[in-house]
Amino acid sequence: MLDTILFSVLPYAVIVTTIVAVTFRLRKRRFGVSSLSSQFLESGELFFGSVPWHYGILVVLTGHLIGFLVPRELLLFNSAPVRLYILEVTGLAFGLLSLVGIVSLIWRRASSPRIRAVTSRMDVLLLALLALQVVFGVSTAIFNRWGSSWYASSAVPYLWSVLALRPDPATIAPMPWTIKAHIVGFYLLLAILPFSRLIHALVPPLRYLTRPYELVIWYRRDLRPADRHARSRPAHTPRVRTAPPAPPSMPIVPEPKTPIAHEPTTPNVPEPTTPIAHETAQTAPAEELATLTPHE
Ligand code: HEM
Repeated sequence: MLDTILFSVLPYAVIVTTIVAVTFRLRKRRFGVSSLSSQFLESGELFFGSVPWHYGILVVLTGHLIGFLVPRELLLFNSAPVRLYILEVTGLAFGLLSLVGIVSLIWRRASSPRIRAVTSRMDVLLLALLALQVVFGVSTAIFNRWGSSWYASSAVPYLWSVLALRPDPATIAPMPWTIKAHIVGFYLLLAILPFSRLIHALVPPLRYLTRPYELVIWYRRDLRPADRHARSRPAHTPRVRTAPPAPPSMPIVPEPKTPIAHEPTTPNVPEPTTPIAHETAQTAPAEELATLTPHE
């Protein structure tokens, strides 16, 4: 009964709520889709928590996604023991990296009064759920061997059955409770995604992954350029870069290079090259007039 609620009912309740809430938030509060940076309150520990967390969890989740999308190919890859060992050790290493990261992030929020003051209940819930999710994941990797293979053969068919609207938890029913907790943790994280700062995961700033870590300090009137570096850079903080100069301003209305339609280069009424009949009649001498008469 509990399995039915957790693995056949809960997923749909979560999926519907998440889709509705994300759509609402993206449409109504588009500029609120952010992780609300607290870097200006503290940056040292943020660096040592955020970087391992993001690199670790992104690699782990990419591994989950690959197994979800191409389970047969994953099983084929794992059929050679040496490849299976390499995959498992790599997954575990990045799992541990993300664990170090999330523990550092929690420690940062708990230990700094300034960060605590801006930490909401939802932040606490989110960090607790993420930490539990990583703990259950790492414990699965350590205590339930060859997870990458049985994930592809047992857990992935269940996930696909949910997406196909024919939920079949039979393949995960006999699994240990830690693995079930890991799957339920996934649903809970999905459920709070629209209501928490996790929503920033939907608009990832991908260039941050390749950009060198840096702190951008906007121009401050009270500091001369030479003072700026010295005053704002404690020993352990990263390279400081001042914001680049604004790009040269573009004219709002560009100068037209070619004449536009309503300003023609030639007069609207062209200069007649030959005299027209009525002018000729008024100005031409009598003998010329004679040459023009149709009777001739
Ligand atoms: C928010 C979503 C999730 C997060 C953050 C997460 C995180 C993790 C972490 C950190 C690990 C340990 C590193 C590793 O060995 O790969 C792990 C392992 C694992 N996770 Fe997840 N996970 C999530 C969702 C899921 C779901 C939905 C399933 C299955 C339905 C799943 C199944 C597994 C399995 C089987 C392992 C062990 C892999 C192995 O031993 O190589 N995870 N997860």
